Order: sequence, then structure tokens, then C-alpha cells
Amino acid sequence: MNLAFQSLKTVLGALLLTAAVLPQAGAQTAPDQNSREAARRLAKGMCMSCHGEDGVSSKPLVPRIAGQQRAYLEAQLKAFRRQNRADPEAHDYMWGIAATLDDNVVASLADYYSKLPPAKGEPGDAALIAEGKTLFERGHDDRGVPACTVCHGDNAEGHSVFPRLAGQHGQYLARQMQLLRSRLRDSPVMHGVTKDLADEEIRALAMYLQAR
Ligand code: HEC
Ligand code: HEC
Repeated sequence: MNLAFQSLKTVLGALLLTAAVLPQAGAQTAPDQNSREAARRLAKGMCMSCHGEDGVSSKPLVPRIAGQQRAYLEAQLKAFRRQNRADPEAHDYMWGIAATLDDNVVASLADYYSKLPPAKGEPGDAALIAEGKTLFERGHDDRGVPACTVCHGDNAEGHSVFPRLAGQHGQYLARQMQLLRSRLRDSPVMHGVTKDLADEEIRALAMYLQAR
């Protein structure tokens, strides 16, 4: 099979997967005034204690949520509530909290954090970053790994239910890719993407994205 055809197949596969997740994006709730205020109180109190003052956490396994895509934040808070993210950190830190939030407050929290400025990238190991960049932009045709840019954007800025990855903690990202690979975090799309990634490749991708 020639290379151009393989690339086309990979991209088409990714687009089909994309179509399968996009309907979730339509399920957004428009927040009312009361829930906006409730969300702001939570953000300035409980959420802040782990996710940092402006959603820019300094703890490597607590994700930065400032400037994250609104639809993605909403979908994830609902996934914690449904207990679809079943790894120990999700269970210990987010299940209990998400269970107390109704759809309006979830929508308001997503709106609140999506409007905060995202964290800037941090420098790291140049060789690893270069390796991660190549994989992120081109994927790996031989093993059917699609280019990440197809869904996460050329600058890893994300869109709708596809998360922003740029400037996120590398340790958090690497951990999530492992969880997605093992299906402890349920996502058919990302399981397909990560199932053939080696630990070394995950590390390179995470380093590139943290630096981005
Ligand atoms: C006790 C610490 C703690 C508190 C309090 C907390 N979180 Fe989290 N949050 C975490 C951790 C740890 C994770 C990563 C879970 C995992 O690895 O699956 C997380 C994950 C998330 C994610 C997923 C982000 C992504 O990139 O997928 C969102 C969204 C989120 N939290 C929002 C909130 C909001 C909103 C609040 C307040 C209502 C809150 N969190 C309170 C610790 C906390
Ligand atoms: C076909 C679309 C698509 C492609 C291609 C894709 N992703 Fe994703 N990615 C998603 C979706 C959708 C999610 C949200 C998963 C969920 O529903 O929990 C996601 C989530 C993630 C997360 C979790 C982020 C967080 O904040 O917890 C990481 C990390 C990630 N992707 C990395 C990658 C990398 C690296 C590549 C390329 C090797 C890639 N993705 C290719 C659609 C895609």
C-alpha cells in the first residue's frame, strides 16, 4: 500500500471517529444567573484548592483547566458524575464533587473556566519535544496512529469536545494517555488513538504538549 493512501486512510478513520463524538457537543446547557453565581463561589473556593487560583494548577497530576474548551469541560464534569472516568484520581478527587453539581452549575463552571487565559508552555528536553512534535503533527501511518492535529488543532488548542492540550502538565497528560490506552478512562476515540503507542512515545508527546 503506498504512503499517500495510508495517510488518507488514517485521516478518514479519524474523521469518522470525530463524527461519532461530535453529537455530545450539542448537549450544552445555557446557564442562568443563580448557577453562574454558584459556579463562581465554587471556583473561588473548593475548585481553587486543587486547580489553582485561576485554573492554572501547580500540581503535576491536577490538570490546568483555565482556557480549556467549554464543551469539553462540560462533558468531563458529566463523565465524572456518571463515573465514566474510573481511574483512582478521578474516583478519589472528582466523583464526589461532580455528584453535587446539577447541569446548570456544570455549564456555568465550564463557561467560567473556558474564559480564563490558558497557561503558557514550559521549556523541557529539546530532543524529546522534537520527537513529540513530529508524532503530534504526522501520526504514524504504519501503525494507524492518526495525526493528533486532526482533532486537537495545529497548535493543540482544541475545539468543542476535543480538549486543549497545549500548556497542560506533562505528567497529567502522560497519565491520561496511559489510562485511555488501558480503558480505565472510557473514550472509544482516544482508546483507538493510544492503543499502539509505546510509553516512550507517550512521554515525548506529553513533553511536547507541556512545552507548547
Ligand atoms: C481535591 C482536589 C480537587 C478538587 C477540590 C477539584 N478537583 Fe477537579 N480534578 C482533580 C484531579 C486530581 C483531577 C484529575 C482526575 C484524573 O486524573 O482523572 C481533576 C480533573 C478535573 C477535570 C478534568 C480536566 C481534563 O483536562 O480532563 C475538570 C474539568 C475538573 N477537575 C473540574 C473541577 C471543578 C470545576 C472543581 C470544583 C467544582 C474541581 N475540579 C475540584 C482534583 C480536584
Ligand atoms: C479523532 C479525534 C482525535 C484524535 C485524532 C486524537 N484525539 Fe485526543 N481526544 C479526543 C477526544 C474526543 C478526547 C476527549 C476524550 C473523552 O471523551 O474523555 C481526547 C482526549 C485526549 C487527551 C486527554 C486530555 C485531558 O485533558 O484529559 C489527551 C492527552 C489526548 N487526547 C491526546 C491525543 C494525542 C497525543 C493524539 C495523537 C496521537 C490524539 N489525542 C489524537 C479526540 C482525538
